[in-house]
Amino acid sequence: MNKIFLLFIAFFILSISSLDAAVYKGQKIFVKKCVKCHDEGQAFIAKKKIRQWNKIMKQKGKPLADLHLRSSKAENSWNYFESKKYYRDSKHLKQFLVEYAKDSGNVPACN
Ligand code: HEC
Repeated sequence: MNKIFLLFIAFFILSISSLDAAVYKGQKIFVKKCVKCHDEGQAFIAKKKIRQWNKIMKQKGKPLADLHLRSSKAENSWNYFESKKYYRDSKHLKQFLVEYAKDSGNVPACN
């Protein structure tokens, strides 16, 4: 029983590539941090092309942070965009956003 379980876990870990893992992480961050204001979700991400997301997420997502810090309507996000956590998250977030950009051809699974 235990052995089979371990084998299963090992197989599971091997079967998700590191890229998928980063995208998944990015999705989790998006759901937790962004959806409360950008509740169009997938449609919101598909509004931009890969190149545009890359641009907005360059320098560890600084342009995205600045855009929110300049807007008083986004006040509830300031804590996050000013935090170190955001700069750690931004790499995963970028991968997620680019993965589901308008011209990526990908649609996220409904889970
Ligand atoms: C507290 C609410 C809030 C949160 C949380 C928030 N945003 Fe925003 N966001 C805004 C507002 C308000 C604007 C519009 C800013 C403006 O132009 O005045 C905006 C603008 C944007 C834009 C630019 C839209 C465009 O059409 O160019 C992007 C991209 C964006 N947000 C992505 C994100 C991402 C990714 C996250 C999560 C890390 C996030 N936002 C979290 C409120 C929020």
